[in-house]
Amino acid sequence: MLKRPPLSLYIHIPWCVRKCPYCDFNSHAQKDGLPEQAYTEALLADLDNSLPKDENRPLESIFIGGGTPSLFSGNTFNHLLKGVQQRLQFAPDIEITMEANPGTVEHDRFAAYREAGINRLSIGVQSFNNDHLTKLGRIHGRDEACNAVALAREAGFNNINLDLMHGLPNQTIDGAMSDLLQAIDLSVEHISWYQLTLEPNTVFHARPPVLPEDETLWGIQEQGQALLASAGFEQYEISAYGRGRQSRHNRNYWQFGDYIGIGAGAHGKLTDIESGLIQRHWKTRQPEKYLARTDSFISGERTLANDELPLEFMMNALRLNQGVPTAYFTERTGIELTAIETELKEAVSRDLLDADYLNRLRPTAKGRLFLNDLLSLFV
Ligand SMILES: C[S@@+](CC[C@H](N)C(=O)[O-])C[C@H]1O[C@@H](n2cnc3c(N)ncnc32)[C@H](O)[C@@H]1O
Ligand code: SF4
Repeated sequence: MLKRPPLSLYIHIPWCVRKCPYCDFNSHAQKDGLPEQAYTEALLADLDNSLPKDENRPLESIFIGGGTPSLFSGNTFNHLLKGVQQRLQFAPDIEITMEANPGTVEHDRFAAYREAGINRLSIGVQSFNNDHLTKLGRIHGRDEACNAVALAREAGFNNINLDLMHGLPNQTIDGAMSDLLQAIDLSVEHISWYQLTLEPNTVFHARPPVLPEDETLWGIQEQGQALLASAGFEQYEISAYGRGRQSRHNRNYWQFGDYIGIGAGAHGKLTDIESGLIQRHWKTRQPEKYLARTDSFISGERTLANDELPLEFMMNALRLNQGVPTAYFTERTGIELTAIETELKEAVSRDLLDADYLNRLRPTAKGRLFLNDLLSLFV
């Protein structure tokens, strides 16, 4: 039977100092002055419009992403989070993450973020190699990245993630390992380690840099995973490694939980128990149009059809190394397990899915390696 899953909130801040050539996120180079106050008011109005009827679930997590949220002041987030709390109850152990760019941080700001209630920072380091950082168009160098972690600790953050990318133009296996070693040395709780991809509509896609050969990419992946494991980082998702901590917010996405998305271009997913429908929504993308509020902020919404739900669910759940309890499938899609039993058995027989599938839907090591093959069974 369909149940209401845990609820999270995603808040998008769509501005950056400048646009990185590899980035396809909804981020725009800031012109002079940011409309912090007007945008905050718009976010709260957007939240008012987005609240499900009779919402009484406590918020498990909030993720303030971008863009570069650290361009906004602590005061702004204080006001915003208070506004959110007037509309939604916070779980006692709520995780509130903010993305920070090492080129925009200073001590007083970090202290103010902590005071506003933000209790997890995700710092966009990408690499500790200054040559790579320049080619990636980053506004910071290695020293600013190390300094950002030190400042975050001083300000009282005890839950820090570093975003790193690998497979960078001309990167060697040793170069990628040296980035990881530096991150490990900083004793953070979490590392998100993404392989650089060339996304359509980016400068890198139009003028592709020379990326490492497949053999090097494979070596980076294998040696990097071993290095992170030896330093006590458990890989719990394709790109996520935690030492004693995981990202509760992302885990809720992967467990097919609910989330409201507010801000320019933000996406959300909500389950309506009464109608038995699961809906996705997305908001007006252009910051100027979003601010002008000519519509209800909603750019589109869509009800997920029953025949697409198994794939939607698996695309999330099977990213997790430990998968999810099997009961989540029916509770979070409303579909009986028997409807996909043939596909599950086929996945087990091909050694892509753990044989214990009646208890847990978990990819095998082979299933993780050939995730697309595993997912194609549910198309
Ligand atoms: C939404 S971005 C924003 C983070 C923050 N604005 C920053 O760049 O410091 C989140 C992360 O996605 C990763 N990312 C962005 N574009 C990518 C790409 N083309 N390939 C792989 N990872 C990418 C980067 O590690 C980045 O920190
Ligand atoms: S700072 Fe982050 S969000 Fe902004 S353009 Fe660069 S990668 Fe994208």
